[in-house]
Amino acid sequence: MKVLLIGGGGREHALGWKITQSPLVDELVCAPGNPGLAALGRCEPVSAEDVPALTALALAERPDLVVIGPEAPLAGGLADHLTAHGMMVFGPSAKAAQLESSKAFTKEFCDRHAIPTAGYRTVKTTAEANEYLQMLAPPFVLKADGLAAGKGVVIAQDLQEAQQAAATLLDGQFGSASKTLVIEEFLHGVEASFFAFSDGRHVVPLIAAQDHKRAFDGDLGPNTGGMGAFSPAPQMDEAMTARVMKEIILPTITGMAAEGNPFIGVLFAGLMIGSTGPKLIEYNVRFGDPECQVLMMRLQSDLLPLLLACAQGDLTNAANRPPAPQWDERACASVVMAAKGYPDTYQKHLALSLPKQTAPAVQIFHAGTTLDKQDMLVSNGGRVLAVTALGANVTEAAAMAYQECDRINFPDGFYRTDIGASVRPAK
Ligand code: AMP
Ligand code: GLY
Repeated sequence: MKVLLIGGGGREHALGWKITQSPLVDELVCAPGNPGLAALGRCEPVSAEDVPALTALALAERPDLVVIGPEAPLAGGLADHLTAHGMMVFGPSAKAAQLESSKAFTKEFCDRHAIPTAGYRTVKTTAEANEYLQMLAPPFVLKADGLAAGKGVVIAQDLQEAQQAAATLLDGQFGSASKTLVIEEFLHGVEASFFAFSDGRHVVPLIAAQDHKRAFDGDLGPNTGGMGAFSPAPQMDEAMTARVMKEIILPTITGMAAEGNPFIGVLFAGLMIGSTGPKLIEYNVRFGDPECQVLMMRLQSDLLPLLLACAQGDLTNAANRPPAPQWDERACASVVMAAKGYPDTYQKHLALSLPKQTAPAVQIFHAGTTLDKQDMLVSNGGRVLAVTALGANVTEAAAMAYQECDRINFPDGFYRTDIGASVRPAK
């Protein structure tokens, strides 16, 4: 089989790494890919945001399956264009991708299907924002309705700060993405990211991971796309997973299908596990980055039959059912090495060098790298590498990943030193 993988970050390197381990795959093409993926397949220089060019590439390549990694091409309708041409696509339609591309859509959808989430109001003017903010207690949570690269959420500690943030957002801080805001009640608890595959009607649960969103140790500094992740997430035991499936994931898949927008792909639920149970913070319509890296390292069975079954709409078809995913008992941790200054301003083309060999339980996934004119590896983004390792528990997995970080030479980079530190090793 020939697979076309869209994207060029750490998530896509992990997906490509796992996809090419499948005995069913004989060719991988990536758009745009990265130097890590170039070792696994052919990379075509087409931006993951250029939907017309990606469509043209897919039509020229005629892959047996297209796997779409990032949210932008999904929100831009790439899956719709490709399925209209009869292609097999892992990833939702633009309408189903509204679960990520519009927070207002998701909140209203949750209301319609009784999915537990924070109380909220959607506002379009500062007057509406101020009226609702006065009814809430601090801290205040304000969210741009549309896609804002993970930066569209403000948590304000006092009313004045919240009102100022609302005014700045509505004034177009994120262009049209913040012309509408969702203001919501602050949720207390522990966060977890949970993942499930769907073919539009049926669901196969995957496992949970926990992300570290803030830039610096101790959860300080600005929000980022994710500075590290680990799995398993201790609060997502079997009983909590069953509750999340019943109260959140299944009503979502059933609700989307009933509304005529079946969801095909991987549904990523950002959860807050509080005293009254799980609540949905947000949906994403693709794998998390770097959560994907830890999931792919822990997945022992073949990924490809599952991706294909989602695309074909027969995830639980008795005659053709792919085997349920099998998971490594070991824990996994991923440490993101970022360019100094990320997530604000940072330089590209920073020098870095990687060890020639890594232990089998360690993978260095390329996230934002490229080759310079002399074919030397340099940085090409804010998040540059995702150093990922398996270990007997989260503490040991993180220790392995940090040992590998010590072997990487990236003088203008930085990373958090407390990934997974909140989890105590099991006695
Ligand atoms: P989101 O992009 O919606 O996942 O929000 C980014 C981060 O903001 C989340 O991972 C949470 O840490 C925090 N957050 C978002 N919504 C809430 C909420 N209602 N209550 C508490 N924290 C929140
Ligand atoms: N790590 C969070 C995300 O991918 O959105």
